[in-house]
Amino acid sequence: MRTVSNISQIRPIISSAKQRGERVGLVPTMGALHAGHIALMETARAQDDFVAISIFVNPTQFGPAEDYQAYPRQLEQDARAAQQAGVDLIFAPSAEEMYGEGFATYVEVEGLTEGLCGRYRPGHFRGVTTVVAKLLNIIQPDAAYFGEKDYQQLIVIRRMVNDLNMPIEIVGVPTVREPDGLAISSRNRYLSDEERAVAPCLYQALQAGATRVRQGATGAEAAEQVKEILAKEPLLRVQYVEAVHPETLQPAEYGGPPMVIAAAAYLGAARLIDNIIIEEGTDDA
Ligand code: PAF
Repeated sequence: MRTVSNISQIRPIISSAKQRGERVGLVPTMGALHAGHIALMETARAQDDFVAISIFVNPTQFGPAEDYQAYPRQLEQDARAAQQAGVDLIFAPSAEEMYGEGFATYVEVEGLTEGLCGRYRPGHFRGVTTVVAKLLNIIQPDAAYFGEKDYQQLIVIRRMVNDLNMPIEIVGVPTVREPDGLAISSRNRYLSDEERAVAPCLYQALQAGATRVRQGATGAEAAEQVKEILAKEPLLRVQYVEAVHPETLQPAEYGGPPMVIAAAAYLGAARLIDNIIIEEGTDDA
């Protein structure tokens, strides 16, 4: 496994892999690798001949009051985890390498970015799509892998890749959870013991909402039920609970699946997001 930090080093490595006829997969990350990232890498490993990951804490997707400075940076530890997962290449650029002097070009997906997290994190998705477009351009993979935990991000990136005619398959990978249901996230490390004990209630409430949807409830009814359950937990500050159509992300005004119920809540300093995908004729994802 190689680790490189310059864009100019990447191109010959990827070209050689492609000349050997290899299919290239990319897992974009911000590092602090955990079981969720490992699942992305293992999915890529199973589908591609050459697996690259990027590790870059992207400044343009953090708001001024968010945790850009505090976000964990642990390249050596991440490199060990990536090697164990069978990764071939780590691209770990500096902020200067990615956003050189005079940088002025941003990629923005309209509509899909306006609701859910987009409503509370202005500019966040513009930062995500800009950096992901750059990473896809730099590495030119055949496929790129994103977690379903960041459901809105996954849908927004699919839209961008489609709209910009990028010949890249975007693969969504199911959320990895702790045994008690808490979605694994780099931000879980901000939780105190007391907050950690409370955290699984987010997914439990979403599961209760999903049961209502499978019984025919509308998105608004299901979201209301989730909010009522979460309101009983004094440590939790709910930012939003919304039920939306899985592709358009528009409010699900109809009854029954398909639907995604998505939620964001603060537990102390940690902003947790989670969702449940309710497909037609199947159990929840
Ligand atoms: O999901 C993340 O970790 C980030 O938003 C991503 C896709 C790596 C872009 O910085």
